Amino acid sequence: MMNKLIARTLPYFPKKFVWIFSRKYIAGETIDEAILASRQLNEKGMLVTVDLLGEFITNLEQAKSNKDEYLAIIERFEAEKIKGNYSLKPTSFGLLLDAEVCYEYVREIVAKAAEYNNFVRIDMEDSKCVDLEIDMFRRIKAEFPKHVGLVFQAYLKRTMPDLEALMDIHNEENPINYRLCKGIYVEPKEIAYKDYYEVNEHYLKDLEYLLKNKVYAGIATHDRKLVEGAIKIIEENNIPEEQFEFQMLYGVTPELRKEILSKGYKMRVYVPYGKDWFGYSTRRLKENPKMASHIIKSLFIKG
Ligand code: FDA
Repeated sequence: MMNKLIARTLPYFPKKFVWIFSRKYIAGETIDEAILASRQLNEKGMLVTVDLLGEFITNLEQAKSNKDEYLAIIERFEAEKIKGNYSLKPTSFGLLLDAEVCYEYVREIVAKAAEYNNFVRIDMEDSKCVDLEIDMFRRIKAEFPKHVGLVFQAYLKRTMPDLEALMDIHNEENPINYRLCKGIYVEPKEIAYKDYYEVNEHYLKDLEYLLKNKVYAGIATHDRKLVEGAIKIIEENNIPEEQFEFQMLYGVTPELRKEILSKGYKMRVYVPYGKDWFGYSTRRLKENPKMASHIIKSLFIKG
């Protein structure tokens, strides 16, 4: 109830006030701030994946400007020798306005990353984007087999069939590379698991399927139960360390992050930055009021 109220009213709070809530989870507004945060994580033994905020745009000029900024990010991050790769949300390039323009822009970004032998992860957005994002991934993967990956959401009932259907483009020379997460959008119960235990059960089933089929998996979660479940699957099946990494969001559960690192596993932190942090934070809250409790906690927990 309280969460819903905060989620609904936060967009009307002064920006400075919302920044107090958000700053723990956003690296800053500029590329320089994103580089600084990324370098600090690199120094602590973590890789990064950098994301420019600016999803669900309303015109194609914004799409072009986001594309140009991504190209600049890649040049800067490579020049600064940051250890990491790039994540993007296709709606930042007009996926729902003109899917073909969006494809061209995302393709250009992947081509730029490929020049540096680097990698771009296509984030998965809400359910109306899933087919479009899978199609885009297929097309770009055919051209840049080593330089692009996708995200899957364990809460969607369609995820396992989607994973199975995509095995036709998987081979050992160019394995597919997915991030697996629970899913952050609020989806109807007809298409998504709602229960915590049910989502977790499907997460681990999906992960086991990926790892046993030699797909590279980014294990994206802050849920201790899932981390333990993932390690069990990895150990029981002798999954080589070249086949997976753990991933967490910037500012979230740093203690669990440290524990995973201390076990010698690879960890990548998702570093969002950009001027759209206000829209991003308030949209996230509207989509998922449960986030309000995380945000409120961040006001009281330091570090
Ligand atoms: P769960 O929600 O059960 O959280 C476990 C614990 O972690 C919580 O109790 C809390 O302590 C902490 N926690 C989790 N999220 C927090 C937050 N935001 N702030 C503070 N504390 C938090 N989703 C999507 O739909 N598409 C995508 O492309 C991505 N990409 C992505 C990348 C990476 C690297 C991560 C880690 C996550 C995503 N997500 C995502 C988000 C994901 O789907 C999911 O909503 C969150 O990770 C929360 O789920 P957990 O697995 O962490 O479990």
